[in-house]
Amino acid sequence: MLKGDLTLELGDRVAAAVEAAFGLRITAEEAVIRAAAPDRPADYQCNAAFALAKRVGAAPLAVAGEIASHLEADLVEPPVVAGAGFVNLTLRRSWLEGLLVRLQTDARLGVPPSARARRVVIDYGAPNIAKELHAGHLRSTVIGDAIARLLRFSGDEVIAQNHLGDWGTPFGMLLEHLVDLGWTQTGAEHSIRDLDALYKAARAKFNESPVFAERSRRRVVLLQGGDAGTLELWSELVAASIQYFQHIYDVLGVLLRPEDARGESFYNPFLGDVVEELQAKGLLVESEGALCVFPPGFKGRDGSPQPLIVRKSDGGFNYEATDLAALRFRTQELHGEELLYVIQAAQHMRLQMLFATGRLAGWVTDAIDVQHVSFGALLGEDGKILKTREGESVKLVDLIDEGIARARRIVEERSQLEDGEREEIARAVGIGALKYADLAGDRQKDHVFAWDRLLAMDGNTAVYLQYANARIRSVIRRGGEEVAPGTRIVLGDPSERALGLRLAQFGGAVRSATEHLEPHRLCTHLYETATAFTAFYERCSVLSAETDELRQSRLALCGLTSRALILGLSLLGIEAPERL
Ligand code: ARG
Repeated sequence: MLKGDLTLELGDRVAAAVEAAFGLRITAEEAVIRAAAPDRPADYQCNAAFALAKRVGAAPLAVAGEIASHLEADLVEPPVVAGAGFVNLTLRRSWLEGLLVRLQTDARLGVPPSARARRVVIDYGAPNIAKELHAGHLRSTVIGDAIARLLRFSGDEVIAQNHLGDWGTPFGMLLEHLVDLGWTQTGAEHSIRDLDALYKAARAKFNESPVFAERSRRRVVLLQGGDAGTLELWSELVAASIQYFQHIYDVLGVLLRPEDARGESFYNPFLGDVVEELQAKGLLVESEGALCVFPPGFKGRDGSPQPLIVRKSDGGFNYEATDLAALRFRTQELHGEELLYVIQAAQHMRLQMLFATGRLAGWVTDAIDVQHVSFGALLGEDGKILKTREGESVKLVDLIDEGIARARRIVEERSQLEDGEREEIARAVGIGALKYADLAGDRQKDHVFAWDRLLAMDGNTAVYLQYANARIRSVIRRGGEEVAPGTRIVLGDPSERALGLRLAQFGGAVRSATEHLEPHRLCTHLYETATAFTAFYERCSVLSAETDELRQSRLALCGLTSRALILGLSLLGIEAPERL
């Protein structure tokens, strides 16, 4: 049975060799198999000898030699020991060819299903009601969505939670402003075109008019006190915002649905219970009138224990209380076995305190994984947080519009396209560029936003991958009929072998992106695949290959490459148009 991931497959062989040589049992992971860069002499390197040297009391070089001589050579060429104790592994051509034949009939293209399917609750998106989505929300939304797709594909049950900011003091002024706009009139149609304008107008009135400010404060009290009319108006505002967000999610091709929205307000009725439960478990300490948890190990700058404030001195609750209630809900009610929080890196410390508190309270047990899926900031080319020329935060809708407009210019230059398909392709290219740029780099790092780089026709961009795929689709169309599944593969040319190797590594790349929750691992692999295809296509003629067998083999390689690109992009939430 194939594991799908060649590093694990080879790891098993190395483990068997280690057992034969030293009578030691190690796992496939402990065999430390790494795919080598394309310019290296071997396909893989095994780095196990270094850790094993200590355990068996021999030099790494000697251990590597033993591994090499005990390795079953059915799938690799006789291994070569290199450096201080590396074992270089090169797949047998015949084995690689056989694998590619099998992949042709594998709908998952060698991606192994998850060994233990879990119920994963993933918190992403999280915009604030009645505020425009800004560029910063793009990262959580796009990264969260790609991770949700990867996990679903591996077989996990994924519950998305859009933790909307739909509660708190700003709603006083917003609701009063809506009253002024006549939203209380029965039968009126309410929609929000410009959330920002709404928010800004309310904020301006609040600052200018003491009367309005006072009304707003009273409105907050009414809202929190559960006044029916106020709640009705508030829920209209929430519904209109959710509708607006959904429109953007649809344009972006993000899987979030209105039913995934579970805003801060949802947890409001449970905040008192949370305090009581923490109180009963002896976790709350009163500090300057506030109720706090002091999870051990968290210290402020001055070295004093850092509090997680659950209830403020005025009796009000803050985000921490809401997040605690959400943590409790996700473990106790949703029965999440894995909880993921796709939130910016700046919140790392407070999330760690939140998780630690959840453990103290017994909500998060050892059987539950809780993880902050952290991401860096979105920066402008000046290295500062992305802002408009006027110094305001960049609206996500404006980014989307500009991305599509720029893509339209690229698409217009492509004479082979028909007018009717241009707009759809421009959308796929523009949105793809935005999303891919957010995914292609290590998510922990800040992402510097530059349009030209995003839409470069060559480089690690969505459009490069989309273009590679469209080229392949065109070759396949011109080739006439599709090749039969199970077509024999011949990897005679080095560029054919290099492409074949990348295709064989697809499963491992998807697995590693899924396991580490790092979509960029898949991006890198897709980029390497497209590059390998370009090199292959330059050297090998497909449709006018010397023999029919070669033509079929190369068409089959084209077919596998296209499938890898389409499936890979779809796992990132990006479309792959048939033509470009
Ligand atoms: N609504 C916040 C914002 O727009 C993000 C909240 C993230 N927190 C969470 N528990 N999901 O900045």
